[in-house]
Amino acid sequence: MRKVILAYSGGLDTSVAVAWLRETMDADVVTLTVDVGGGSLREGVQRRAISAGASRAYVLDARERFVLDYCFPALQANALYQGVYPLATALARPLIAQLLVEVAQREGADAVAHGCTGKGNDQVRFDVAVHALDPSLEVIAPMRIGMGLSRDQEIEYAQARGIEVPITKASPYSIDQNIWGRSIETGVLEDPWTAPPADVYQWTVDPGKAPSVPAEVTIGFEGGIPVSLDGLRLSPVDLVDQLSALAGAHGVGRIDHVEDRLIGIKSREVYEAPAAVTLFAAHRALEGLTLSKEQLRFNRLVGDELAQATYDGLWFNALHRDLRDYVRSSQRVVTGEVRLRLDHGSLAVVGRRSDLSLYDRALATYEADDAFDHASAVGFIKIFGLPLRTEAARQGSAWAWTNALVDKLPASVVSAEPSGTPS
Ligand code: ARG
Repeated sequence: MRKVILAYSGGLDTSVAVAWLRETMDADVVTLTVDVGGGSLREGVQRRAISAGASRAYVLDARERFVLDYCFPALQANALYQGVYPLATALARPLIAQLLVEVAQREGADAVAHGCTGKGNDQVRFDVAVHALDPSLEVIAPMRIGMGLSRDQEIEYAQARGIEVPITKASPYSIDQNIWGRSIETGVLEDPWTAPPADVYQWTVDPGKAPSVPAEVTIGFEGGIPVSLDGLRLSPVDLVDQLSALAGAHGVGRIDHVEDRLIGIKSREVYEAPAAVTLFAAHRALEGLTLSKEQLRFNRLVGDELAQATYDGLWFNALHRDLRDYVRSSQRVVTGEVRLRLDHGSLAVVGRRSDLSLYDRALATYEADDAFDHASAVGFIKIFGLPLRTEAARQGSAWAWTNALVDKLPASVVSAEPSGTPS
């Protein structure tokens, strides 16, 4: 009899998958449920797994590892897929894949399984990560190989076998959530012109119904890692949970965009990520104070590359690993505090400070105590502009491809009377 470790959420799909794997593949099924926070752990999962026919049901609390090893490194890199998605779902997959592999090795299993369909990103992330860690393991995805049942058929299938059907009412959406964010797809959202109905959102209040008094919060960072809220040091999990509640209560953290999936289709995606959105804004503000302009520019490239690779399920490839090391090193001076205002869905950085700040008021000021050497700007500009003057001298001035404008603009011209007073 073969043994399979199934990534088990406790929902209807994966409950049916337990029985399906047993019956269709004659497999001994062990379930693994990973708590990655944000309400991802459902009550009674182990009981339900056993009732569905699992021989053993693991539940692992991986919240702290998830935040420290996946969410915070992505934050340090400012990794946002297509500039907006904080990657909550994508970041959890390599962690779950690693735990599947570990449990498979402990249990002497020859395969792992997951409940992803053949149309999404998550199947790619699981399969690629599992094989990067242990190429000898087979990956089985029942949904891809014949278990495609409608919800009603799944309920019937489960009831016929005495499997406990989760009592939760069928959601009109496909949802994945963890401490870093909530991903919502399908249903009416499949029309990109349709505004998300109110029931899409669970973690963020309607910005129009947010408290009339804005909130202010100060986030403390050490080496690019958030460590405190309003001066109070918190554990990584508590910090994210508390910030999520605060920002969500002020309507901050909603994202609605059309996204390019790895398998080549565009998809309308809605996310709620109040803590992540707030932390990204704060982190970037602190980098603006503590990193050089060359670092800021180069880190944008690295962040985009890491976001793409994370989205594409390449967490365990060599480039991803080396870029993460670079990012960690680049963050050694990103220490300080950022003040933000949360107001009816909008988020504004209103202050930042750091002992390692590169901002020098004596140089920046327009007041009398200005320490900047204005006269030296002349020499600087002479050298800086030298290539343009050489171009103009050798290849003709930019005037050659510039259209004269003065005669084409509505104009008013006043001449002085010979006496000096305007007419
Ligand atoms: N599009 C997102 C991603 O690929 C979210 C996927 C969420 N999955 C789900 N079953 N709703 O990372």
